[in-house]
Amino acid sequence: MKPTRVATTLFAFILCAPAQAQNGAAGAQLVKGECASCHAIGEETKSPEPKAPRFADVAALPSTTELSLKVFLRSSHKNMPSIMLEPDEIDAAAAYILGLKKKN
Ligand code: HEC
Repeated sequence: MKPTRVATTLFAFILCAPAQAQNGAAGAQLVKGECASCHAIGEETKSPEPKAPRFADVAALPSTTELSLKVFLRSSHKNMPSIMLEPDEIDAAAAYILGLKKKN
């Protein structure tokens, strides 16, 4: 890697890291309040609502991406009640679920 590339990568990392951490915390709070009544949001082995997938399982699906989550959370669903989220809440929820993916 050229020194300039290293510098650019480092710079991008420094720029992104705090924003992501903040999103993660906001996301955790949001999903606890809005989603945990149905979904397992963490290490739980079962969701409170059996039809709702565990977020860890959602994250583990190969088809789950930031985009797929954001599209899902912006659209209406058959079984999940359509919860109206603000755009920044959608970002936070998507970031939270994707955060579970990295740990697996
Ligand atoms: C009242 C129960 C309920 C609540 C509250 C709820 N969900 Fe769900 N959710 C479901 C059910 C049931 C499904 C599966 C059926 C479906 O896809 O519509 C689902 C599916 C999903 C999926 C799709 C997984 C896949 O297969 O791709 C995502 C993502 C998701 N929920 C995120 C959320 C988020 C984020 C919140 C909180 C903002 C939330 N849900 C709140 C019941 C709920």
